[in-house]
Amino acid sequence: MRKILVTGGAGFIGSNFVHHLVNHTDDHVTVLDKLTYASTEESLVGLPKDRIHLVVGDIADAATVDPLVAEVDAVVHYAAESHNDNSLSDPLPFLQTNIIGTYTLLEAVRKREKRFHHVSTDEVYGDLELDDPERFTESTPYNPSSPYSSTKAGSDLLVRAWVRSFGVQATISNCSNNYGPWQHVEKFIPRQITEILEGRRPRLYGDGLNVRDWIHTEDHSSAVLTILETGRIGETYLIGADGEKSNVEVVRAINTYLGRDAEDIEWVKDRPGHDLRYAIDSTKLREELGWTPSFQDFEQGIADTIDWYRENQAWWGPHKHETEAKYAAKGH
Ligand code: NAD
Ligand code: DAU
Repeated sequence: MRKILVTGGAGFIGSNFVHHLVNHTDDHVTVLDKLTYASTEESLVGLPKDRIHLVVGDIADAATVDPLVAEVDAVVHYAAESHNDNSLSDPLPFLQTNIIGTYTLLEAVRKREKRFHHVSTDEVYGDLELDDPERFTESTPYNPSSPYSSTKAGSDLLVRAWVRSFGVQATISNCSNNYGPWQHVEKFIPRQITEILEGRRPRLYGDGLNVRDWIHTEDHSSAVLTILETGRIGETYLIGADGEKSNVEVVRAINTYLGRDAEDIEWVKDRPGHDLRYAIDSTKLREELGWTPSFQDFEQGIADTIDWYRENQAWWGPHKHETEAKYAAKGH
């Protein structure tokens, strides 16, 4: 039985990955999570107790990290401050967790000689014009726009340096926008669904034409597991499922599934420095490692996600008011 340490395993994508590991492997999973506002232990409820162990702690605390790393075969690193809007109002936690936290983990895997997979974002590449025929590839130059994406870019570069300078056995993945269950209501898709469920209108920043390349979080999980098991050490793999949609297209799909007028939208203040378009070319991952996404029907994926939020109001409801109060203060 392999032993895996999953950092950030109580957050959105990390908890979906933990479920994926339990369902598709015999691994024992230790989750290291600080349980910030973005996470809940409930996302791990129902998993077999003999397969999962939750440690509440900070990835930037070497005294916590080192003994946990010593006990496992591999570390899969999801923990991060992850929301762009928050990074614009308070960048410091992003530097602390995304940079110092990743450094702390790298020092532990270096010392303990353990396999490391670093989960990162396509935002490190900046953005593309709407009509640019190119998509991001592994050789696109880094050009991050926000405090969030610049700290993720910094963390990627630390991983590359620890591979080259110290021989750490690491891989990196940069994924596009995820959707699915357990995503915090501050993020775009859950925010729109829950605004409507609470009787308000969905809210679009700017002109709504910004494009994101959507992937179901289950496909992200299968890609990360594939890279962990078969990826080449020192390599970066882009993860994407050819899911480009403008924000207004996504809101129309949500309105339609919920039986509303597709154009009934609240237009709100734009995000400063708002990236225009992300688009992933995942040819390397598909051709080299044989990975393919399973959730290709976006409308069906959105419908399932909406149903999940309808059925799990007890999970998101307690966080909704505080989140909307933060947005209201910024004019979003
Ligand atoms: P999230 O905010 O939902 O979850 C982050 C988790 O990390 C939370 O459980 C939080 O408690 C934990 N955490 C934060 N600081 C910590 C610390 N100092 N020590 C220990 N735990 C800490 O984020 P997410 O959307 O699930 O993203 C997870 C990872 O995937 C991040 O690294 C993010 O950059 C990356 N990513 C996200 C997306 C996306 O669309 N959401 C896309 C590509 C990559
Ligand atoms: O591309 C991967 C990234 O995707 C991850 O690295 C980040 O962790 C994740 O948060 C996400 O970043 P985005 O900034 O793209 O996601 P967000 O959900 O904040 O917004 C998606 C788009 O929707 C973006 O163009 C801003 C817009 N938006 C967002 C909100 C919250 C709106 O129009 N209205 C909203 O209410």
